Amino acid sequence: MSTLKILVTGCKGRMGQAVSQCVTDDAATEIGAGIDMGDSLTDALAKCDAVIDFTLPSFTSDLIDACADQKKLLVMGTTGHDDALLGKIREASETIPIVHAPNFSVGVNTLFWLTQKATEILGTNFDLEVVEMHHSKKIDSPSGTARRLAEILAEVRELSYDEDMRHGRFGDVGARTQDEIGVHAIRGGDVVGDHTVIYAADGERVELTHKASSRNTFANGAVRAAKWLAQENKTSGLFDMQDVLGL
Ligand SMILES: NC(=O)c1ccc[n+]([C@@H]2O[C@H](COP(=O)([O-])OP(=O)(O)OC[C@H]3O[C@@H](n4cnc5c(N)ncnc54)[C@H](O)[C@@H]3O)[C@@H](O)[C@H]2O)c1
Repeated sequence: MSTLKILVTGCKGRMGQAVSQCVTDDAATEIGAGIDMGDSLTDALAKCDAVIDFTLPSFTSDLIDACADQKKLLVMGTTGHDDALLGKIREASETIPIVHAPNFSVGVNTLFWLTQKATEILGTNFDLEVVEMHHSKKIDSPSGTARRLAEILAEVRELSYDEDMRHGRFGDVGARTQDEIGVHAIRGGDVVGDHTVIYAADGERVELTHKASSRNTFANGAVRAAKWLAQENKTSGLFDMQDVLGL
């Protein structure tokens, strides 16, 4: 079987470098091209079967258009998209296959699964809070993973992500209500990514925590996602890492 040729976008970035190493180390994949800010996308894309993207939301629109034109597989790790860009990703997935995941680690996807189960079991008596910590260079907040965790909490409790989230608390905000979900972002040092979901009730508290200590965990997951799209012969559709892992 021929190896899958990968275009690594943002190849000079923290994640881009980790992805390039994982692609090189995996016998089933090879680097078709790597681009960063200022490089030509179209020519690089033409040499590849699939793209693994960890860049900025401002690049997403051009990348999606180019992938749709050339019918390439897309693995999107970039976070921080607004609703318009999320809509564009969804629309593009009608013509090309896309895996878009806020987090490609197996551990975090297990945390997503556990969060759904714990929220169903614990019910409405528990107050819900999400805390995340990342390195000082991270530019979006909350992290895509914290947002996904909060969305899972909101879905199970039939709340609204837009209306019931409380991002940090400052000043005279009043007592906590039962129907709010707190989301808190801490930044500092070289932390790769910590996420905790807190369920707090009178007399007891449950905390689910994941801590990433290496970017390779995300990079390996992204490579696995690209291989999954190719092996499954996907020609369209929007998938996440839960689909790739069969959770
Ligand atoms: N889904 C996941 O599992 C996961 C894990 C870690 C990080 N992320 C996300 O991945 C993204 C990148 O994170 P990072 O820590 O590697 O950031 P980074 O700043 O280290 O790297 C981003 C790279 O993208 C390049 N870039 C920006 N605009 C570009 C453009 N128009 N064309 C080509 N290259 C461009 C930058 O020059 C830089 O080299 C962020 O959105 C982050 O939140 C996702």
